[in-house]
Amino acid sequence: MAREFTSVGVVGLGTMGAGIVEVFARNGLAVVAVEISEGALERGRANLTGSTDRAVAKGKLDPADRDALLGRVTFAVGLDALHSVDLVIEAVPEHLDLKQRIFAELDRVCKPEAILATNTSSLSVTEISVATTRPNQVIGIHFFNPAPVMKLVEVVRTVVTSADVVADVEALCARLGKVDVTINDRAGFIANALLFGYLNHAVGMFEAHYASREDIDAAMKLGCGLPMGPLALMDLIGLDTAYEILDTMYRRGGRDRRHAPVPLIKQMVTAGLLGRKSGRGFYTYERPGSPVVVPDEATPVATGAALADGARAITKVGVVGSGTMATGIIEVFAKAGYEVVSVTRGAEKSAKVCDAVKTSLTKGVVRGKLSEDDRDAALGRVTWSATLDHLADVDLVVEAVVEELSVKKALFASLDEICKPGVVLATTTSSLPVIDVAMATQRPADVVGLHFFNPAPIMPLVEVVRTIRTSPETTATARAVCAALGKTAVVCGDRSGFIVNALLFPYLNDAVKMLEASYSTADDIDHAMKLGCGYPMGPFELLDVVGLDVSLAIQRELYLELREPGFAPAPLLEHLVTAGYLGRKTGRGFRDHTHR
Ligand SMILES: NC(=O)c1ccc[n+]([C@@H]2O[C@H](COP(=O)([O-])OP(=O)(O)OC[C@H]3O[C@@H](n4cnc5c(N)ncnc54)[C@H](O)[C@@H]3O)[C@@H](O)[C@H]2O)c1
Repeated sequence: MAREFTSVGVVGLGTMGAGIVEVFARNGLAVVAVEISEGALERGRANLTGSTDRAVAKGKLDPADRDALLGRVTFAVGLDALHSVDLVIEAVPEHLDLKQRIFAELDRVCKPEAILATNTSSLSVTEISVATTRPNQVIGIHFFNPAPVMKLVEVVRTVVTSADVVADVEALCARLGKVDVTINDRAGFIANALLFGYLNHAVGMFEAHYASREDIDAAMKLGCGLPMGPLALMDLIGLDTAYEILDTMYRRGGRDRRHAPVPLIKQMVTAGLLGRKSGRGFYTYERPGSPVVVPDEATPVATGAALADGARAITKVGVVGSGTMATGIIEVFAKAGYEVVSVTRGAEKSAKVCDAVKTSLTKGVVRGKLSEDDRDAALGRVTWSATLDHLADVDLVVEAVVEELSVKKALFASLDEICKPGVVLATTTSSLPVIDVAMATQRPADVVGLHFFNPAPIMPLVEVVRTIRTSPETTATARAVCAALGKTAVVCGDRSGFIVNALLFPYLNDAVKMLEASYSTADDIDHAMKLGCGYPMGPFELLDVVGLDVSLAIQRELYLELREPGFAPAPLLEHLVTAGYLGRKTGRGFRDHTHR
């Protein structure tokens, strides 16, 4: 017989605890909510009412249901109030000694059959459990932030957790409307093990002035469709909590340098910049606890003013290449009103590209996004050529030829001879150093990376890559052009993977390593990232779409440039590529797509 849970206790009403109370109370359970002091209890109560009031304001909760929800919660200082609950979940700060002390006390206070659960993100549930006399009734129930919203719960069993307890907790998760994945006790479980290396890397980029906070966050939101950028997410998690999680993962997870907290995090914690909960972290918030970001001294000036900063006027644009990217980029510029000169390696290729652009624009007409006149005008703005000499009078050249350095260098050397002075020369390379192509010309100050995403007409992001020789005017021109195209430009340095790929692919590679270690299944890992972190696709879904060969090549580049041992491509990824399992395009990658 499954255990009946009628009342539960929650210890610690901070970022997570208050949300967990809400989840239980919303689903009809009586909750005893416990804090360390009267002041902390009041803050906890305010966290809970703030969240439920917001749900009412958004029309997601009935005022009467809110009152009933709050009526199910009893608040108390001290653990003694938990004597008769069926289950306790602990959500105090991420310190092993503190949690062990609390579990020893819970063991003393709670009735013998009560289940004792921890919401720890990274500490060993086993080590916490041995502080009690009932380790078989201790389990990890890891909610995600914000607990009322995120669907996932990681249920963490230790080697001694009894099977009944696991089954009862799984049934409870279902009752709460959550999806659970049950896993063994390992640092970071699934989601945090894949998330925190990425978050730390993003903070490292910010600390190194590689890109601004707004640009790092916009890159991951617009380039990968993530619900939040990494720095905004750090603020939501809380920098103190994030620091402890990284520190524990570093120590428990094999001393991977990628988990050694970036020094800036510790400095910010020491300075009281804890994120949303203190009103200031990477961003500044309206007040402590508020999700509303307000401008501060680091907020960029309005785009209009920034664009005036020496940007050159661009009316005529050359696009070199005949592949997917070139085709999309021609369409984007022509639609935005630029005169475009397309240069390919022959009339036949030009005809193909012209057809592809026409087809794509016509799709826009069919979908009602573009009038026939606009389509014809856009096509009318493009001239088709097979010789670079026709680029003599353009203001900007965008190169999108094959991803081979020798080819790109030769092309840039030719452009250098043909193009008039003052032209901006841009490369769309996604993996080669922009400085290499810049130095193939006599005018490296005018060379910049314009990394469009595929499909270019749809993806809203462009990475503007400035080398150590790129002039401010060239960068300003690139940004102004992106704005005129209706794209969001993020500016970054000339390092392998720029922002998006450098942050995305190591995470995908880590997911492969996790699968390879048989810690979890591809389905559960995909689930965890989608339901725990709100990602639009799980890592294995995404790898199969991107292509395992492409992913491996990018990961190799990152590894070669940064020499970070943790970036070494997962052997399983290499084997799948060798076996010809490249993803959807070959019918099989991590999954078999032939029967779907
Ligand atoms: N923040 C996240 O995104 C997140 C997500 C999942 C899990 N977690 C985990 O949840 C736990 C709590 O993290 P948080 O971010 O909510 O921390 P937090 O700092 O926001 O809240 C912790 C709360 O515990 C209270 N507390 C401290 N000592 C106590 C005691 N002896 N008795 C009762 N209450 C006490 C504090 O007053 C505070 O309100 C950690 O283990 C963390 O790793 C955090």
